[in-house]
Amino acid sequence: MVISVDGSKRKEAARERREQRRREVTLLWALPYEPHQRWLDRLAPRAVAVVTGANRGIGIEAARQLAYHGLHVVLASRDAAKGQEAAGRILAEAPDEASVSVESWQLDVADAASVQAFAAWAVETHGGIHVLVNNAGVNFNKGADNSVEFAEQVLKTNYCGTKRMIDAMIPLMKHSPYGARIVNVSSRLGRADGRRNRIGIASLRDQLLNDDRLSEQLIDEMITKFLEQVKQGTWSSNEWPKIYTDYSISKLAVNVYTRLMARRLSDRPEGQKIYINCFCPGWVKTAMTGWEGNISAEEGADTGVWLALLPQEPPTNGKFFAERCEISF
Ligand SMILES: NC(=O)c1ccc[n+]([C@@H]2O[C@H](COP(=O)([O-])OP(=O)(O)OC[C@H]3O[C@@H](n4cnc5c(N)ncnc54)[C@H](OP(=O)(O)O)[C@@H]3O)[C@@H](O)[C@H]2O)c1
Repeated sequence: MVISVDGSKRKEAARERREQRRREVTLLWALPYEPHQRWLDRLAPRAVAVVTGANRGIGIEAARQLAYHGLHVVLASRDAAKGQEAAGRILAEAPDEASVSVESWQLDVADAASVQAFAAWAVETHGGIHVLVNNAGVNFNKGADNSVEFAEQVLKTNYCGTKRMIDAMIPLMKHSPYGARIVNVSSRLGRADGRRNRIGIASLRDQLLNDDRLSEQLIDEMITKFLEQVKQGTWSSNEWPKIYTDYSISKLAVNVYTRLMARRLSDRPEGQKIYINCFCPGWVKTAMTGWEGNISAEEGADTGVWLALLPQEPPTNGKFFAERCEISF
């Protein structure tokens, strides 16, 4: 009984801290970025950003905000018509249409051929890109469900799709003294050691959180093991995250892969730097949550856009953020 009272007080205090931070961030929106922060203004022609899954939700809002900041934004969408419609909406709703530059292109992150075709188009059309926002994602669980029926699709899209885009876009990322940026849209549900939703296998948790033991093989083996258990009907929520298990594992994989890639990319020479970070947008009113959530897609996109625009000094690399603050993995 005493424990549950303490638990609910802790939960209440954490909720209050989050709310406070949201209020602070909302105030920050009103402040323009300082000229010295705006590395993109020193590039001509405009910096090019790609946002995946950009036809709706957090993706279209990230695309809109980046475009309003002056980047040329490619809305990558698996349904070409929906992508075109979203780009048209951004232009039509812009306060100053002439200053906004957007276009759309077909991209299914779960399809290797589609990613290759997209990469070829991006090189041919723009000579490369400066910013990649890996936003495309799926979650088939709603409310209190915890079904793993679509586990393979969830992992193929959220983790393998993100990884595939990173692999395909790194060679295309433009060299500049300001560095290029990769932002992965992830989730607090994917924390390896989250209080409510962590990996139950202590040894795996420790390896995932230890930079010397973390490897691509470890992440891929974790996923293969989970999917095999799903196929055999032997998976247990004692071993894996308890809430939205398949989705949480996919975002955990994205988080730790972000850390791994940051380490791999960190020895690139000056002028060829790529900074990679991930963030949780919060609980957002989009199709994914059945428009429940407690913040708008516009608010949800904010931290991702902020990460994409961060100056190169001091370097921000391999970190996890929410509400523009670093949080633990
Ligand atoms: N909403 C939240 O509370 C919340 C919380 C934490 C993290 N996130 C993350 O935020 C990101 C955006 O989610 P959202 O809330 O904006 O959901 P959403 O409205 O359902 O949008 C998801 C987007 O991803 C696209 N997509 C799905 N599979 C794709 C594929 N294979 N290739 C390309 N695009 C694909 C969808 O395209 P279609 O229209 O073609 O389906 C859609 O544009 C996701 O990564 C999600 O996991 C959301």
